[in-house]
Amino acid sequence: MKKITLFLLIICSLQVHAQKVQGLALTPPMGWNSWNTFQTNINEQLVKDIADVMVSSGMKDAGYEYLVLDDGWMAMQRDKNGNLIADPKKFPHGMKAVADYVHSKGLKFGLYNCAGTKTCAGYPGTRGYEYQDARYYAAHEVDYLKFDWCNTEGINAKEAYTTMSKALAATGRPIVFSMCEWGQNKPWEWAENVGHLWRTTGDISNVFAGTKDMGTWHALGVLKIIDLQKGLRKYAGPGHWNDPDMLEVGNGLTEAENRAHFSMWCMLAAPLIAGNDLRKMSNATKNILINKDAIAVDQDKLGIEGFAYKEKDSVETWLKPLENGNWAVCFLNRSTKPVSVEMNWEEKPIYDYFSKAILDATKNTYQIFNIWEKRVEGNTRHSFKATINGHDVILLQLKKV
Ligand code: GLA
Repeated sequence: MKKITLFLLIICSLQVHAQKVQGLALTPPMGWNSWNTFQTNINEQLVKDIADVMVSSGMKDAGYEYLVLDDGWMAMQRDKNGNLIADPKKFPHGMKAVADYVHSKGLKFGLYNCAGTKTCAGYPGTRGYEYQDARYYAAHEVDYLKFDWCNTEGINAKEAYTTMSKALAATGRPIVFSMCEWGQNKPWEWAENVGHLWRTTGDISNVFAGTKDMGTWHALGVLKIIDLQKGLRKYAGPGHWNDPDMLEVGNGLTEAENRAHFSMWCMLAAPLIAGNDLRKMSNATKNILINKDAIAVDQDKLGIEGFAYKEKDSVETWLKPLENGNWAVCFLNRSTKPVSVEMNWEEKPIYDYFSKAILDATKNTYQIFNIWEKRVEGNTRHSFKATINGHDVILLQLKKV
């Protein structure tokens, strides 16, 4: 009898300690976040404008769902009961009114905080207030929490993120938990049941190659971030994603670079969190962000992160297994000069040992669809030959016929 009671107690406690909400983020989360363009210069009107344009631009229909306010939404102090408060100047009607507006547009709403004593921009951090802050988010109908790693003074990352994950789960509200400790503690090794996505690197910037000098630190360019994803694909899958950081599409890269950056995030099954000023985006930027075939590569239900299959000269060939035996192929030209590329599909079958998928054009024929040119380019019976412009990509969908 005693043994049975003990067994039941263990089962119950395991259930109570079930952490992140399962069934959320089954494909990589999509949305918009304020940080890359606005930093802490955010306010109620901006949120409303962005929510409106997410709908009117076609972003919502393309799958962008979460509107997330990053650092800078809070007042500098908690209230006398220790509750967070929204900055009353930036958000004169409080945060619930903001969440209500976002929800009224059929979107979901996200906020930001930090595991440390203060956020990176110096606002009140969550350390010691995990359950209280989780209740604040649930009461304000928050659907997504980005949780940063500044001012953490040597605390244990796994414990800190697990505590917040449990606090969110305890509210009973489904909240996507976006972990942002920059890959410093290898979250991919322990966070599958803690968060829905985890940053794999330091911050991105609006440069394609190299890094950007930020004074006291260097922000990473797109290619550097791609290189840092090596070895991580086996850790990602439905409900738990590697996050190579938010998009810089539309933030000063060339059109080719925007396309290459976006294509590679799709190949990596990365969260697609736009970070540009949607109110002012060019048609070229919009057409990249809402390309439904590129997004379908990212959002493929299998949730298998792509891999670098071949590197020759400045061109990397990336492959990503898709549902129904289909594949995505991305040729990435890392140099600034045009390069020609050739792929003989029938040369040999390609095995992905991780997912067990096989691209076998010796036995099957695949129709080739060029995603950016929006046209069918024959099939895999013929070698594929093309020229790729500098810092550009060719993104193909191979559909088994
Ligand atoms: C860190 C994060 C960024 C952003 C800022 C906010 O640098 O990595 O994505 O949230 O903090 O201060």
